[in-house]
Amino acid sequence: MAIRQILEVPDPRLKTVSEPVTAFDDELKELVSDMFETMYAAPGIGLAAIQVGVPKRVLVIDLQPEDEEAEPEPCNHDGHDHVHYPTKNEPRVFVNPEILDPAEELASYQEGCLSVPEIFADVDRPATCRVRYQDLEGETHEEDMDGLMATCIQHEMDHLEGILFIDHLSRLKRNMALKKLKKMREAA
Ligand code: NI
Repeated sequence: MAIRQILEVPDPRLKTVSEPVTAFDDELKELVSDMFETMYAAPGIGLAAIQVGVPKRVLVIDLQPEDEEAEPEPCNHDGHDHVHYPTKNEPRVFVNPEILDPAEELASYQEGCLSVPEIFADVDRPATCRVRYQDLEGETHEEDMDGLMATCIQHEMDHLEGILFIDHLSRLKRNMALKKLKKMREAA
């Protein structure tokens, strides 16, 4: 396993339309294992292969939910006593994913992206969708998705078409976001 470099805007490779995977071989497994390592190290919850410069239709996602069977940890970060649970890993791999029937109803989430560091903005997307995809062995599956998973997979699938979440914003908001990113890079 190895951590690969994550491409960031305005790298033109992020605009590439990725190619379908046809070989379910060791090279694919190595790519996926590197993508997980890169995503966890960043840290992030989703990564498309093109974000590490590989123009293949491969996504990894891990929403890293709280593990409610683990020992709760008391917390007071907002001035109120409550508990958090440690997160657990739920790694998911999607090869050649397709969206079958996006809902008309939209859901809005504040999105970010490892290729657009430090920028967050609300994006509306279909609230639910059915996804057809292949696993690492080439087996085809279909799954209904909702909530954060539906948003995340649509965000990652956009990367396969060369689209970033900031492309869903108005030109004004996108330019403001890119300006902010440029300023932060100059300050760094
Ligand atoms: Ni992204």
